[in-house]
Amino acid sequence: MSTPSLLILPGDGIGPEVMAEVRRVIDWFGARRGLAFDVTEDLVGGAAWDVHGTPLTDATMEAAQGVDAVLLGAVGGPKYDDLDFSVKPERGLLRLRKEMDLFANLRPAQCFDALADFSSLKRDVVAGLDIMIVRELTSGVYFGEPRGIVTENNERVGINTQRYTESEIARVARSAFELARRRDNRVCSMEKANVMESGVLWRQVVTEVHAAEYPDVELSHMYADAGAMQLTRWPRQFDVIVTDNLFGDLLSDLAAMLTGSLGMLPSASLGAPMANGRPKALYEPVHGSAPDIAGQGKANPIACILSFAMALRYSFDQGAEADRLEGAVQAVLAQGLRTPDLMGPEGGTPVGTRGMGDAILAALDAALEG
Ligand code: NAD
Ligand code: IPM
Ligand code: MN
Repeated sequence: MSTPSLLILPGDGIGPEVMAEVRRVIDWFGARRGLAFDVTEDLVGGAAWDVHGTPLTDATMEAAQGVDAVLLGAVGGPKYDDLDFSVKPERGLLRLRKEMDLFANLRPAQCFDALADFSSLKRDVVAGLDIMIVRELTSGVYFGEPRGIVTENNERVGINTQRYTESEIARVARSAFELARRRDNRVCSMEKANVMESGVLWRQVVTEVHAAEYPDVELSHMYADAGAMQLTRWPRQFDVIVTDNLFGDLLSDLAAMLTGSLGMLPSASLGAPMANGRPKALYEPVHGSAPDIAGQGKANPIACILSFAMALRYSFDQGAEADRLEGAVQAVLAQGLRTPDLMGPEGGTPVGTRGMGDAILAALDAALEG
């Protein structure tokens, strides 16, 4: 097999800071595990706008279509707040998702035992938490037409449209059922079928796909607002949650805080299988460019590092190496190392972005030698 290819798009704010640590992890796997990657790096978001006047060039888009996986840091920041909507940094990311047709966004929320006391919820509620949110990523209100700001009756009207076809719902439902079969075999689907027609169709299609193809998986339905409440009341009742683009955005940020920090949550955005049987894929932390801490060397690189672990698992068939990397993260947290976002009243050893990267590399070495 030829060397697997990886396109790295560090982006803006803390994106390049956390990605620098991922690059060291990638190099470690090359040097110590014989896993070589053909890595190229390019610009996205505000960084691309600064140089090219667009948040994603056609050349970068084409490169993304051609690699085995894309790894993205984060995009956006206050410097770009006043840009025209069509060239905002976030549009670069949305274009990647849409044109690569990455319809299934996997956002796992796992509570590492060493952080169970750090969550804003009680230890009993979050300890052992392991849920997977599957967010539909290429449709819904993010992309529906009509959209825009228009003038009607002498006032401005902002318009977005929630729109789902049954095939869009069915394919993301299948992703969720497939994942559930490899986990605790339970799917909870969330929408607002009580007020939205798109929610009515969502519930119908999920139910049909379940009955026809996945009757062995336990399926339940919940209104998304009640789902948010249940996620904070008793999150361990869930295994896989499948939901639309906007609800998935909100619920995954909420789930992130169950685990302690937004700086901990990775994600995988997957499309249909390519000719080689692997899905088109983009991996990125759930968090953004964190302008409030950018440039200070204190961002938590774990979400981005765990996103690379997801790439090892879902794009490169290296599940055991993904376990190895997740184990190193767990070990470092158990040693008490804490970036500022993880520093609670119980204390710990303060480290910055680089220090956390150093410790994870040391833990990888130690596990290999031990
Ligand atoms: P954010 O996720 O950037 O930050 C929210 C809070 O979490 C901040 O206090 C930040 O310091 C903290 N935080 C986030 N990641 C952290 C990390 N790794 N380590 C430590 N602390 C961390 O969200 P925001 O402030 O709402 O958005 C800032 C910009 O990022 C906006 O332009 C937004 O559009 C963009 N954004 C991009 C992505 C992405 O690229 N995928 C995701 C979300 C937001
Ligand atoms: C995310 C972000 C993005 C989204 C933005 C930056 C486009 O919040 O990945 O969660 O809304 O999907
Ligand atoms: Mn978000």
